[in-house]
Amino acid sequence: MTLLSDTFKDHLVNPRNLGEMAGAHGTGEVTGPECGDMMTMYIKVADGRITDISFKTFGCWAAIAASSMVTEIARGMTLAEAGQISRRDLDPYLAGLPEDKIHCIELGISALHRAIRDYERRRTAIGEETKTP
Ligand code: FES
Repeated sequence: MTLLSDTFKDHLVNPRNLGEMAGAHGTGEVTGPECGDMMTMYIKVADGRITDISFKTFGCWAAIAASSMVTEIARGMTLAEAGQISRRDLDPYLAGLPEDKIHCIELGISALHRAIRDYERRRTAIGEETKTP
């Protein structure tokens, strides 16, 4: 039996950036297709980079730890870079994760991608509103 990595355990015991964010510039919400658990990711953006990020979930321990790691990876990235985050970025820390928990780590990644799309949609909408006829 492989043990969970120290990094994964650390994020499990002490999750970073956990909680709702007031005034988020983008919000992404997903529901796990396999378990029905919910995950919401919040971002703030300045000059095309993620300056603040947090998450809220009703998911399990694996989703909490993985999403905590996702927030740390994404903070400071450009939106384009953060949009490319995938499970590959977490793979080095997933040793020992039970097979039935693999789907849980996708929740935070998907929620982040939706938050980025939400931010871009809002920005486009503001641009449309401020266009002069
Ligand atoms: Fe639903 Fe893990 S079982 S997030």
